Amino acid sequence: MSPFPVHSLWFSIALIPATALPVLLIYTIFRPSTIRNIPGPPSQSWIFGNTLQLLLPTQYGDYEFRWLKSYGPVYRLKNCFGDRLMVADPAALNCIVNSPHFKPSPMQENMFEILFGRESLSCVSVQEHKALRAALNVGFSAVAVRSYQSIFEKAAARLTEELENSSSTSTIDICPLLGFAMLSTIGEAVLGQSPEELGEELIRNNFEIVAVAASQSRQQILAEAIASHLPTWLFRAVARLPTGTFKTVRDAKRLAYELGNRIVQEKLVAAKEGLDTDSDVFGVLLNLNASSTTRTGLPGNVVAAQTAVFMIAGQETTANTITLGLRALARLPEFQAELRSEITAKAGNAPYDGMPLLNAFIKESLRMFPVVPIDDRCAREDTVIPLSEKITLSTGEEISQIHVEKGQVVSVAIAAFQRLESRWGEDAHEFNPNRWLQGSSAYKGAEGLGPYANLMSFLGGPHVCLGWRFAVLEMQVFICELVRQFSFALPEDDNVRVRLATTLHTVMASGQTGSPMIVSRVS
Ligand code: HEM
Ligand SMILES: *[C@@H]1O[C@H](CO)[C@@H](O)[C@H](O)[C@H]1NC(C)=O
Ligand SMILES: *[C@@H]1O[C@H](CO)[C@@H](O)[C@H](O)[C@H]1NC(C)=O
Repeated sequence: MSPFPVHSLWFSIALIPATALPVLLIYTIFRPSTIRNIPGPPSQSWIFGNTLQLLLPTQYGDYEFRWLKSYGPVYRLKNCFGDRLMVADPAALNCIVNSPHFKPSPMQENMFEILFGRESLSCVSVQEHKALRAALNVGFSAVAVRSYQSIFEKAAARLTEELENSSSTSTIDICPLLGFAMLSTIGEAVLGQSPEELGEELIRNNFEIVAVAASQSRQQILAEAIASHLPTWLFRAVARLPTGTFKTVRDAKRLAYELGNRIVQEKLVAAKEGLDTDSDVFGVLLNLNASSTTRTGLPGNVVAAQTAVFMIAGQETTANTITLGLRALARLPEFQAELRSEITAKAGNAPYDGMPLLNAFIKESLRMFPVVPIDDRCAREDTVIPLSEKITLSTGEEISQIHVEKGQVVSVAIAAFQRLESRWGEDAHEFNPNRWLQGSSAYKGAEGLGPYANLMSFLGGPHVCLGWRFAVLEMQVFICELVRQFSFALPEDDNVRVRLATTLHTVMASGQTGSPMIVSRVS
């Protein structure tokens, strides 16, 4: 999985199974695996193994968190074809996300190329990535992000006005409102474009992409499993098929390129006229405002090529974290009232980082609802993964490191790590923001993980989320504005489930994405 709509597109190639299935099944049976003796749950199906339990349970984690209890932080799962190593052990996680011996899975690599283009951050070679990341970090540094605060505040004020306008109805589905608010925040703070300037076609396409990404079914799971064994040339050919889904994805890439190039041209003109061009991420990256001798900016075409990845990576991730957090807040009316008092007492420009309840709530939302709960990696070559705690193989042998072969898929089990009782305490499965307020650290481990609060929600290592500071400030601003003005409760007949399809999100009984809530104005 990844924060990008990877899996669901493969529905369209369900025509291939007929020929590929028997070959893959034979391959599975005869391929020896170095992780064969690592204990794990029994396979449920010849074709699917445990993948339906992992990816299509009623509620995300129904099986996964039970397996975590039964088998510990490292266990083996049956994939459609071959085995998958599920990893929530902190030392192993640190190794996998930091080690040059692991890369995104072949499926992710192919999809990134189709969605974002070969010059995007997600696709360039390891060396190029290092240099590009160093240059892009400038637009997402602590200082840069603070300069976008007023943009976030304006967007949050617009959202509360929309809520105000629709709060005559008994329940409001906050998902589309938050989705649009996050799209317009990215538009404004990253690209310097209002929703009107982004244009109707792009916004419509964006909603289509989000809808495609939110679907999940047995057929899609099988199609993705088969697609991940296709050679890249065949993959590219399939992506040119004239089906609706692929057309939507191709349109997204084209629209993003056009938009990115137009913005860069406009900034060049504005800079020549002596206007301020540094007020958004693109402006900071181009650095046109500086005098020609001190200029350090990236070339325009390099910046423009990142438009798609910025837009897609920053939208549903933040929107869904806020939705899932607000649902948990609705179940804790006392904490909600305390949080509101803290927000009301906040004086003028006081920094958000100085608000303990707000930040405890955000950390707990990220811990319990990492919107990328599983992120797949693949071994580039034969290598070794160290473990914090020894595990016992089915042969009785105890091991403190795991040998994996080139091509082995390992799942960075972010959600499971964030529920380890050994690291977060016995109530690890409960949403309890107060754990962040007690004198001792919420995280009981010695290992340092992730960029923020020992959480892996933003991953870690060289591919750590580029926008994590941006996302944290965005959530601080939006939650403050929302909770200051409104109270949140769940309707009595609430039947929303949490499901994984590209990202964790909420689905209603109808199967549609959404989360109806009782949103009332605080008098
Ligand atoms: C709560 C919100 C967010 C979460 C939980 C989140 C999570 C993640 C994760 C897990 C990854 C690693 C994906 C992988 O390598 O497989 C990632 C990468 C990325 N994220 Fe975020 N993200 C969030 C918000 C944002 C925002 C707001 C932006 C931009 C404005 C952003 C931009 C990116 C980019 C560009 C990458 C690719 C980094 C690289 O490959 O070097 N994210 N994010
Ligand atoms: C809310 O309603 C008012 C009055 O109908 C309208 O002028 C305003 O544009 C609406 N605001 C939003 C954000 O929809
Ligand atoms: C960019 O230029 C404008 C106009 O000359 C100026 O007002 C602004 O402070 C400059 N911004 C930065 C970050 O230097």
